[in-house]
This record gives sequence, structure tokens and C-alpha cells, in this order.
Amino acid sequence: MDQASVSPHVLIFPFPIQGNVNSMLKLAELLCLAGIQVTFLNCHYPHRRLLSYSNIQARFSRYPGFRFETISDGLPMEHPRTAEQFLDIVDGVKTTTKPLFMKMMISWCRSASDTRSPLTCIIADGLMSFAIDVANEVGLPVIIFRTISACSFWAYFSLPQLIEAGEVPFRGGDMDRLVASVPGMEGFLRRRDLPSCCRVKDVDDPDLQNPMKNTRQTHRAHAQVINTFDDLEGPILSQIRNHCPRTYTIGPLHALLKSKLATETSTSQSSSSFWEEDRSCIPWLDRQPSKSVIYVSFGSLAIITKEELREFWHGLVNSGSRFLWVIRPDALVGKDEERQTPAELLGGTKDRGYVVGWAPQEEVLKHPAVGGFLTHSGWNSTLESIVEGLPMICWPYFADQQVNSRFVSHVWKLGMDMKDSCDRVTVEKMVRDLMKEKRDEFMNAADTLATLAKKCVGEGGSSSCNLNSFIEDIRMLST
Ligand code: UDX
Repeated sequence: MDQASVSPHVLIFPFPIQGNVNSMLKLAELLCLAGIQVTFLNCHYPHRRLLSYSNIQARFSRYPGFRFETISDGLPMEHPRTAEQFLDIVDGVKTTTKPLFMKMMISWCRSASDTRSPLTCIIADGLMSFAIDVANEVGLPVIIFRTISACSFWAYFSLPQLIEAGEVPFRGGDMDRLVASVPGMEGFLRRRDLPSCCRVKDVDDPDLQNPMKNTRQTHRAHAQVINTFDDLEGPILSQIRNHCPRTYTIGPLHALLKSKLATETSTSQSSSSFWEEDRSCIPWLDRQPSKSVIYVSFGSLAIITKEELREFWHGLVNSGSRFLWVIRPDALVGKDEERQTPAELLGGTKDRGYVVGWAPQEEVLKHPAVGGFLTHSGWNSTLESIVEGLPMICWPYFADQQVNSRFVSHVWKLGMDMKDSCDRVTVEKMVRDLMKEKRDEFMNAADTLATLAKKCVGEGGSSSCNLNSFIEDIRMLST
């Protein structure tokens, strides 16, 4: 009997957006390396993007126990999927994917099939807590995977207390007022640092109710996995483990995967981009002096207005720093014809700047010419920056990013939080501070955390050991 026919079989089911699919593919590959069979259930849209712009087929072809299956998210292929339409994705998943998933699992678990081997468990994205009900219905254990930080998870988890204490929704306009109902964050968490769903006016607003209900389901799962590491978020993880004791921390996942692949004979590139990577930025970086470039990217969902774009551009140019800027084809607010980056900005970047539509980000952050990151504080980007020891300027856009950026600046001391403003004077000053004036201040913390991050994914490190325990847990479920 070959290994695939006796090993556990997990179904991994990500929410259909870039950051989530990206990190859950890394989890999938780590489990494949441990000899676990993986079915990756992807929505049609991300799957088609991956087939077009990544090497996903080649990357996973070496794992005989791996396969993709696809499912609809209810939205047409051409539906725009930026943060502006985020709720359309949430609704589509709820109204279309959920019933299809239920049907799929019932047929999978209740009828013998020649093509599908029995499942050991479901590993579902934390944004899809309905998978817990489906798993219960078909009698399968479910593990929740969180692509966000422990600190932001904990802020979401504390929403009922924030509401009960009358701290959310906000009464009055002072966004700098401290909040007291997120245990462990008293004294530094301000209203503006709470997840963006807290900015609603009405407590019954689904924007607030949905993430709260989703997060509070976590304890019903067999276990939870978070893409973080103990040395980074220890105190907050202790709070979480009081409620969800079986919480495995196995991050930074991209670094853990690299470390495991480094011990393999064959090396595989792990691109999982939804857009075509413009690799011309690498030779451009090769021509820049060491640590002279600030990399600017606002992730896969954030959109900006032309006014904001102009403020960033003036600030970057006036700072005197070199910059590599990712402006996604769909990043500008407006209709198609309004989405062109103004020609004068593109022309004006020639001296010290370079603009691409999508970059090979992990490779860029590793490049010796890159000395800082102006980021939207998405959790993948934050971890990728931490591993490379790069200080950050944060311009959080929405959701968990508001919490992450407060931790980057106030707790981890890795940079500055520009939250809720982006005028050219502030941008210029922060870029100067990050790249020159206050560089030493941030570099000490950045170097220390980078060392800890690398240690935790190495042999005997906390995330590496936690991954082993997690795999052991899955094996126990299959016996
Ligand atoms: C958002 C959230 O804020 C994030 O915390 C959550 O987990 C998922 O949804 P997103 O905007 O996709 O995420 O940001 P981020 O989590 O940083 O993920 C973006 C990914 O795309 C990163 O892995 C980054 O390396 C990659 N990327 C980004 C590229 O490969 N090229 C680019 O040009 C830009």
C-alpha cells in the first residue's frame, strides 16, 4: 500500500482572497511535506487567477497526495473584488458557497467514492465559520485556520465586551480615546486602532455583527491554527488560550515552509499571485545602493483615491528616498478609464522611483537594496517584513490592519503608524525618519525580531515544534 492510501486526508478551504489563499497554500504544502493528503478547495475565481499567474500546478505536482477541487463563490468572474466589494464576497460565500459546500460534504462523507478518499478533518478559514456547522452535520472534526494576527483576532474576540461596556459603537468623535475592554491592550489601544468594523454607527450593523459572530465560533472547533509565533505575540496568545486552549502557532508560515524546503533536495518557488508579477523591478533594484529603497505596497484589496495617490507621490518624491511602488491595475477608485495612474506621476518617478502593477513581494523584501516598507499592514505583508528585518510605515486600510499597525509601532517598535492620514508632509517626514533620521531606533527592534522569527521556524524552534504537534493531532484524528 502506498503512503497516500494510509495517510490522513485533510480538506483545506480558504476564503477567496489573495492573502488568505496565499497563506493556506503554504499550510497545504507543509502538510504535504509531512505526507498528509490534502484536497485544496478553492473558489473558481482565485483558482483561475492562480492558474494564470502562478506556478501552482508545477509546484504541487510533486505531491501525489495533493489535489485541487473548486467551488463557486456566487460572483461572476468579472466582478471587481477590491475592499469596496468585500461584502459582496462575504454575501456570495454565505448564500452560494455554504449550501454547495454542505452538499459536497454530505455526498463525500455519506457515499462511497472511487475518486475521493475519506476525509480526516476540515481545515477552514476563520472567515468561514459555517464550516463548523457543516462539519458537525457530517461528523467530521474541524480546525479553524486564522490568516490574521493573534492581536487582531483577540480584538475581534473581545467585541462583545466592547459593546457591553458601551465602547463600541463610538459615542463622540475622539478617535484617540483609549479603550479598556480588550484585555492585555489597556493603556495603548485607541478607538482608531480597533478593527475597522468598530467604526459603524449602529450596533446591529452586519459589518460589526458578522465578524463578531464568526470569531466567537472558534471555540466550537477541534483546534485553531494562527499564522504567528510565540515570541511575537506571547501575552496575547495566553489570553486567547484561556478561551481556545488548543491554539497552534506555526508562523511565519512562509518562513517555516522555506525552512522545511531548504532541507529537501528539490527547491520549489512558491508564487501564489493573483496578478502577473512584474519582475523588471528586480534588475532595477539590483542597480540601487544597499538599503536605499523604500518598498510601497498596499496589498491585494485596498483602493486609493487619486488625491491620496498624489499625496503619497509628493511625499515620496520630496523625501529624497528611492522607492519601488506597487500600484495594482484595480487599485484606483473609479471606473475603468479613471483608474489610470496620472501620467505626470509616472513620468515624475523616473529619477528615483519605479512603479509596477504587482511585484514578487517576498523576493523584493529580501533584496539588499530595500531598506523599509510603506505598507497597509496586511498580516502576510507584516510577517514578511518582520522576517526580513525591515522597519515599516503603516497606512492600514481596513479590517485587522488597524490593530496590526498599532502593534508594529507601539508594541514591537518596528516603525510608525500613519493611520487615518496621508498628507504629503506626513509622508515625507515619515519616509525620511524611517530611512535616515530615526533608522537606528527601529533597526534594533527589527533585527531582534527577525532573529527570533528565523529561530522559531528552525529545527527545535517553537513554530517548527508546534507544526509537529499539529500534524500529530491530525494523525490522532485519523486513528
Ligand atoms: C488582507 C488582510 O489585511 C490580511 O491581514 C488578511 O489576512 C487577508 O486580507 P491583503 O491585502 O491581501 O490582506 O494583504 P496581505 O495579508 O499582506 O497579503 C498580501 C499578499 O500578497 C502578501 O503575501 C504579499 O507578499 C503578496 N503581494 C502583495 C505580492 O506578492 N505582490 C505584491 O505586489 C503585493
